[in-house]
Amino acid sequence: MDHVTFQAMVVYEEEGRFVRRIETRQVGDLPKGEVLIRVGYSSVNWKDCLSAMGNRGVSRHYPHTPGIDAAGMVAESFSEGFGKGERVLVTGYDLGMNTSGGFAEYIRVPSDWVVKLPEGLTRKEAMMLGTAGFTAGLSVKRLVDFGIPPERGPVLVTGATGGVGGLAIGILKKLGYSVTAVSGRTHRPDYLKEIGADEVLSLSDMLDESGKPMGKPRWASVVETLGGPLLTSAIKQTEPGGVVTCCGNILSGDFSSSIYPFILRGVSLCGINSATCPMAVRQSVWKSLATSWKPETLDTQVSILSGLDALDEQIERMVSGERVGRSVVHLP
Ligand SMILES: NC(=O)c1ccc[n+]([C@@H]2O[C@H](COP(=O)([O-])OP(=O)(O)OC[C@H]3O[C@@H](n4cnc5c(N)ncnc54)[C@H](OP(=O)(O)O)[C@@H]3O)[C@@H](O)[C@H]2O)c1
Repeated sequence: MDHVTFQAMVVYEEEGRFVRRIETRQVGDLPKGEVLIRVGYSSVNWKDCLSAMGNRGVSRHYPHTPGIDAAGMVAESFSEGFGKGERVLVTGYDLGMNTSGGFAEYIRVPSDWVVKLPEGLTRKEAMMLGTAGFTAGLSVKRLVDFGIPPERGPVLVTGATGGVGGLAIGILKKLGYSVTAVSGRTHRPDYLKEIGADEVLSLSDMLDESGKPMGKPRWASVVETLGGPLLTSAIKQTEPGGVVTCCGNILSGDFSSSIYPFILRGVSLCGINSATCPMAVRQSVWKSLATSWKPETLDTQVSILSGLDALDEQIERMVSGERVGRSVVHLP
């Protein structure tokens, strides 16, 4: 199929600036891999914005096509595990980083990156969840694995109007947890309650700047998505035996803590890495997301963009902090 042409967003570096264009490419230009996928849906994540803006910590080489998520149909397969026409999804690994990504009608990837779409999940829903929902699922899995039951008390979720935070709220709600959302956007309490938050706090309601090693225990566990002072405060405020998951660095890549929450309260700090998560865990979390963990509020949280042309504005809105929820792009 090397001669087949398709549309893709391509980011170029030109005179020190990064510019994005929608262009015609050929399947033969794609990297090697056993599975060629006709992408039906992709989604816009924070990492995609960094790649689209020329962040070399994410994408070293340009010209480049971003898009860390893709769901579609197998168009050609040289792997026994996948047949033509099969519905599949890919999130993470190197997709959209230094491998041509999902902001295109075709991707070609190694077969061990590909997940068969579980029963109960459409391609569109898979991308409504995407890396954000998968990361939220991995975070909630930590609470479940540590045996934190819903009766233990409220779970705090930070970055609540964002993709990971919002979908963590939806999953926790579905599992019967009481959720407190903390958000920098205090003008969105109705939205946050609609997607499942029982209580909404502003950053100042939650940040602990006392300088003390521990604060009053407030949360059975925390899904922390932004890093910096929020992670520092979350650790201090977690109840004995609770879990704090940490996945993001939008506020800062640093945090500070004494050892006391860990040795006096038995608090556990769990790092989440969705990109290289082992395949068995990946398949099991996607299966849960397709069934008993699927948030009821996907339609409220996710807007659907039509075609690659709509991506440019969405990336700008996300970078300027205007976007609420998540966006999925449909490539018919
Ligand atoms: N470790 C992993 O595997 C993994 C996977 C996916 C994402 N992540 C990371 O998790 C973090 C969240 O990702 P996401 O996809 O949820 O991002 P997102 O959809 O852009 O949401 C980010 C949220 O962060 C809050 N925020 C606070 N300060 C901000 C700022 N200066 N600019 C933009 N947003 C700001 C906002 O929520 P409020 O206004 O409600 O506070 C915003 O809605 C990112 O750091 C991302 O890289 C990690």
